[in-house]
Amino acid sequence: MTREIAVSELTRAQARAELADLAQVLAAADAAYHTRDAPEISDADYDALKRRNAEIEARFPELKRADSPSDQIGAAPSEGFAKVAHEVRMMSLGNAFSEEDVTDFDAGIRRYLNWPEDDPLAYTAEPKIDGLSLSLRYESGRLVRAATRGDGETGENVTANARTIATIPTALDGAPEVLEVRGEVYMRHEDFEALNARQAETGAKTFANPRNAAAGSLRQLDAAITRTRPLAFFAYSWGALSEPLAATQMGAINRLKKLGFQTNTLTRRCENTAEMLAHYRKIEAQRATLGYDIDGVVYKLDRLDLQARLGFRSTTPRWAIAHKFPAELAWTRLEAIDIQVGRTGALSPVARLTPVTVGGVVVSNATLHNEDYIKGLDSRGEVLRDGKDIRIGDWVQVYRAGDVIPKVADVDLSRRPEEAEPYAFPETCPECGSEAIREEGDAVRRCTGGLICPAQQIEKLKHFVSRAAFDIEGLGAKQVEQFYRDGWIAEPADIFTLKERYGTGPRQLKNREGWGEKSAQKLFDAIDERRRIALGRVIFGLGIRHVGEQSANLLATHYGTWEAFDQAMTEAQAMEGPAWDDLLAVDGVGQVMATSLVSAFAQEAERAAINRLVAALDIQQAARPRVEGSPVAGKTVVFTGSLEKMTRAEAKARAEALGAKVSGSVSKKTDLVVAGPGAGSKGKKAAELGIETLDEEGWLALIGQA
Ligand code: IVH
Repeated sequence: MTREIAVSELTRAQARAELADLAQVLAAADAAYHTRDAPEISDADYDALKRRNAEIEARFPELKRADSPSDQIGAAPSEGFAKVAHEVRMMSLGNAFSEEDVTDFDAGIRRYLNWPEDDPLAYTAEPKIDGLSLSLRYESGRLVRAATRGDGETGENVTANARTIATIPTALDGAPEVLEVRGEVYMRHEDFEALNARQAETGAKTFANPRNAAAGSLRQLDAAITRTRPLAFFAYSWGALSEPLAATQMGAINRLKKLGFQTNTLTRRCENTAEMLAHYRKIEAQRATLGYDIDGVVYKLDRLDLQARLGFRSTTPRWAIAHKFPAELAWTRLEAIDIQVGRTGALSPVARLTPVTVGGVVVSNATLHNEDYIKGLDSRGEVLRDGKDIRIGDWVQVYRAGDVIPKVADVDLSRRPEEAEPYAFPETCPECGSEAIREEGDAVRRCTGGLICPAQQIEKLKHFVSRAAFDIEGLGAKQVEQFYRDGWIAEPADIFTLKERYGTGPRQLKNREGWGEKSAQKLFDAIDERRRIALGRVIFGLGIRHVGEQSANLLATHYGTWEAFDQAMTEAQAMEGPAWDDLLAVDGVGQVMATSLVSAFAQEAERAAINRLVAALDIQQAARPRVEGSPVAGKTVVFTGSLEKMTRAEAKARAEALGAKVSGSVSKKTDLVVAGPGAGSKGKKAAELGIETLDEEGWLALIGQA
């Protein structure tokens, strides 16, 4: 059905037909979103359809259907969970999409209350969390029931699941006899990424976005599974109460906070619409760095007596509204698929898109991950997106969360052009023509061109000058690329002969476009300064596959000098014997990294390039951290759960200063786990492996900082 005719132009018959169609389309979208946790249309498209439905109904009130989408909240609960009838209905929120909508909202309330224009009327403003709502019922301070929203009247009983969420208290001190706390269950970005990585590793289903992951995790029939999922909860509202929490919205939120709930720290009381809009912009500016998804700002009238006077429409309160951000999901056309070749030869498909605004940012490129992803399979060969493949010419859904690289998340088969062909992933490198092969168990196809592949060379050089490697001031990715294209540098060692070759003579650096006497001299000085360099930076700078910054530093502290490291890499080439065993004993080094290291040193051309580089350098011996008397020197420590006395970053820095190695995951190599509240799966694994576990206090006592 086309929705191109303006509502004011619709005939009655057209309006009736469109309302029927909208009821069907929106019901299907609701079922996909709420019951199956697998949205089929973007939030923005959904909102647009709902708005159109409301506009048609406003013009033809007599045509409003009994099953009108305007009266629906969410979707009926799915089979499998016991049903819970909400004592107080769980409401949805009306939407505002512009500043004008917000001033209209305030004006409407003033009209309703007959409130003079120049009398102040305060509101709270807070982030709208993109998760799923949950109602928690406490009786005599005990959590007795947790229920999802369902259709607003009846939800699903997920009490056992809710009890596994660390930020949901199971007992409250000083709460009203009956208290229903409402809020949002959500998943932080880092937890979502880690969960998806774990899921992929075990061949389990991965989630399209944090909201789906949160919903899928909460709505598990087996609460033991929910327990392993990193869920969190923000309290922002309430249902049934035996006595009022406070006189104002802000007061009630503060009360919930005192009772032990996590409330959002960006919640503010605003005196007028100007302050509300200013706070909206402030929250929007922080959106990318919050660490969890939000999709707007919710304004609520602060005085609860006035909220009570205003009451509700069929599904939404009159006293609150959600001011939505521009969509973070958008549909657009896939114009082409480009293949980028990385430092290690990996061929990465990149979607070239008809530019589209996603969450306020214009996106024209997005990742397609790898060959299998395009085919509709995950790295284990399991079906993704119901097995739908992605073709050039397709309409695709682009997803962007915070500052993460946008990705193509879905494809609309109904809009696929007839001539669209399945995408044939190249089997040769588009940059150098060498064969590109995919090794068993590897999700990625790689160019076998090595040093002859210009793309790999450039990427290696860019990596070499990057911040954690040689970090040469004035020599960034752009300059490296130009110097490479002009044949000035082909490998890292060439950087250290630039001055010799282009410091004087007819083709001097200072005569190049964009350069001058001063900048050329500055670059030569910066390069000279970097001849004296830490061993860890050299090892990392070589750009050997699987060797990250942290591993490079661990290798450096282990071997101490370049000579010792170099000799060990030669001796370990047999892949057995003491040098090999010693390499595997380095923290964080497993078979994969060890193999990658020795094979890099075994390749003659690569080895010769390394030798040329090293000849130009004065590599510093790696200093071992001062650890005399440290009880944790040499130990591998994992921090999990929330810490109260310090941030995670601070805890890590202190532990490392004491000679400990801080790891992100619990394994047999872990010596000690420091578990705060909400430790979840890592705490459990530590117990299983019999690893010593301390709480934050215990840890501080151990390191003498209690
Ligand atoms: S208040 C009676 N505040 O948005 C008012 N809702 O689109 C009840 N949501 O069903 C809702 N963050 O699941 C409120 N800070 C917030 C919210 C919020 C997210 C969700 C909630 C609600 C939906 C409405």
